[in-house]
Amino acid sequence: MGNTKKRPAKFLSALLLAPTIFLATFGIASAQEDEFYLDGKQPIEKRVDDLLSRLTLEEKVSLDHANSSLSTAGVPRLGIPELKMDDGPFGVGEEVGERFRVLNQTDDFATAMPSTLGLAATWNINLAFEFGAVIGQEAKQRGKNIMLGPAMNIQRTPLCGRNFEYMGEDPFLTSRTAVNYIEGEQAQGVFSCAKHFAANNQEYDRDSINEIIDERTLREIYLPAFRAAVQEAHVMAVMGAYNQVNGQYCCENQHLLNEILKDEWGFKGVVISDWGAVHHTDPAALNGLDIEMCSRPPFEKFNLANPFLEKLKTGKIPVSVLDEKVRRHLYVVFQLDLIHAPSGKNTIVSTAAQTPLSTKAHQEIARKVAEESFVLLKNKELLPLNVARLKTMAIIGGNAMAKFSYDGGSAKIKAPYEITALEGISNYLNGKAKIIYAKGYYPPDSSNSVPGDGSKLVAEAVAAAKSADAVVYVGGLNRKEGFDHEGWDRRDLKLPAGQDELLGKIVEANPKTVVVLIGGGAVEMGHAWLSRVPALLYAWYPGMEGGNALASVLFGDVNPSGKLPCTFPKKLADTPTTALDAYPGTNGTVIYKEGLLVGYRWYDTKKIEPLFPFGYGLSYTRFKYSKLKLVPDSNSKKSVTVEFELANTGGRAGAEIAEIYVQPVNPEVFRPLKELKGFRKVFLKAGEKQNVSVTLGADAFAYYDAGQKGWIAKEGEYKILVGSSSRDIRLDDKFKLR
Ligand code: BGC
Repeated sequence: MGNTKKRPAKFLSALLLAPTIFLATFGIASAQEDEFYLDGKQPIEKRVDDLLSRLTLEEKVSLDHANSSLSTAGVPRLGIPELKMDDGPFGVGEEVGERFRVLNQTDDFATAMPSTLGLAATWNINLAFEFGAVIGQEAKQRGKNIMLGPAMNIQRTPLCGRNFEYMGEDPFLTSRTAVNYIEGEQAQGVFSCAKHFAANNQEYDRDSINEIIDERTLREIYLPAFRAAVQEAHVMAVMGAYNQVNGQYCCENQHLLNEILKDEWGFKGVVISDWGAVHHTDPAALNGLDIEMCSRPPFEKFNLANPFLEKLKTGKIPVSVLDEKVRRHLYVVFQLDLIHAPSGKNTIVSTAAQTPLSTKAHQEIARKVAEESFVLLKNKELLPLNVARLKTMAIIGGNAMAKFSYDGGSAKIKAPYEITALEGISNYLNGKAKIIYAKGYYPPDSSNSVPGDGSKLVAEAVAAAKSADAVVYVGGLNRKEGFDHEGWDRRDLKLPAGQDELLGKIVEANPKTVVVLIGGGAVEMGHAWLSRVPALLYAWYPGMEGGNALASVLFGDVNPSGKLPCTFPKKLADTPTTALDAYPGTNGTVIYKEGLLVGYRWYDTKKIEPLFPFGYGLSYTRFKYSKLKLVPDSNSKKSVTVEFELANTGGRAGAEIAEIYVQPVNPEVFRPLKELKGFRKVFLKAGEKQNVSVTLGADAFAYYDAGQKGWIAKEGEYKILVGSSSRDIRLDDKFKLR
């Protein structure tokens, strides 16, 4: 299909186990089959031109805006089908009607994968491919053409309510994760829609906020993942964001859409607006938007519907502007192989009601992603727990019984089931130890009000902790408004609902306490409990198999191997946006004063000690790095291969993520102290070692020169740092770029 790439069969092995229940029947020759555009042997561009010439003005306009919550119109007389979309990005959303009204169907359950921030925490690009492939396959079976994801905005502030949907603070990690996700998804015969282009980094005021971002920062921090999605993964749709960038709404933004995305990067697909993100007809029509989406009828009143038609008819906007949009639309539809003889059948028959789309094989992948995503932040000889030594175990915390997949906004997934932490641990123990559950706190909601007597819950939790051999506390955030939810940012980084005080009391009652935090990123942990708890695990939103995955890690069947895709600062005041008073903006404008210094780039350059640094995560085993060798490319000296040996020197099999940072020595222009430019996740048995080799191309050394409008890799010295986290560099050497 089209120009999508396929991975070697091994990555798809699990998927092949899924029952093939998708039936597509395409019509047999009709009288019109001699029409040029129906001839599959002709080049797509020529078929597009032919089909375009057959459309009326009104039909063409009908293709550039929504005709329902999640589709655009088709032109049945010519065999052009509706383009069907769905959210994204952790699974296929349930079926909805007008204004996203839930239809309560029984055949639209989908695999709820972990959140994509968790996926980024695996640093496993093959898993990212499989993640995308699971969603792509289920989407295809459900008759979808474009999936609204992945979401790939950079985490500028830990407060952003959609960070759980994004992939962390680093453009390189985000790019690698997103490219593989998209390749996996698009290989299934549906297209991805990379969102939200660009810089949708806060939910507060998102519908209108004007973000002032300098060109270099845009290019180096906020755009690289989108560029990689376009140029490497050949993504076929990009979603324009709600916000403004430098004074123009993203869906009406000449610089972002026409100049960068289309002209410079050569994007061939369609730019779809976020839902209701278009405000004016002229700039939307002229500056590069192709399809206007919104779930609120009447659709003919949309900017790109009747108002656009009027301007075309009166010659205020040339028809060539419309044709360019329709060409792209048709190009996408041809690439999806959706255009067939109008008199033939072009039906997608989903047998979802009879056969579950969320197969065992897909659920296994959801579990594997969850297992690899957990980040072990602290472990003083408590984990893994030894079942043989446990008689009574206390499980405490509102999140131990909570489900998260069906919350959070447009990313919610209707899963056939979701294993909670409590269920996962109970399944695992299977009666081998007694479990006492105590809620401990009332899970918070946007009102932050306490619905009951909190002190009673605390007392019960303390009593449970006292009576147990070990405690597993499962708390943190949830995907409710105000915590991790579309449309809302967090107010602060505190653990809500009195969890700090509760944790202090629990660990006092029983020092053998493992703290498991669920959420979309950093929380402040300045309280006394942190120094007293021996074990701390961060679990993101782990998807429908989360509880089972958690049990495997707690009891040691799986060795944790995730690392943080975002810095956990000690306190909100340390974050660049708060320190510089550069969030959430005043009078509708937010100035990106920190520039390039986002995430670890800020903490490193400004020498601020984080609580847990970017790239950090422990294992139940140990790894040794040695024998670093830098091998410059013998011809050009414009790239270098970084070679080193990685050994598992502990007693268990496990995986290490080796991270490679580049640090310019005495740069002539301002550079962040160091930047991630390579990584490799290596699985090693106990005692095993492996030679690792990662090549850094010239782009690993380049910065964007706004004056020259291009990337420049300056000759000179660079330190190559190889380490286990951004603050745990094990090997380094210098390289001279010529
Ligand atoms: C979100 C998008 C989503 C769209 C459709 C918007 O509110 O920002 O991410 O894809 O709705 O549900």
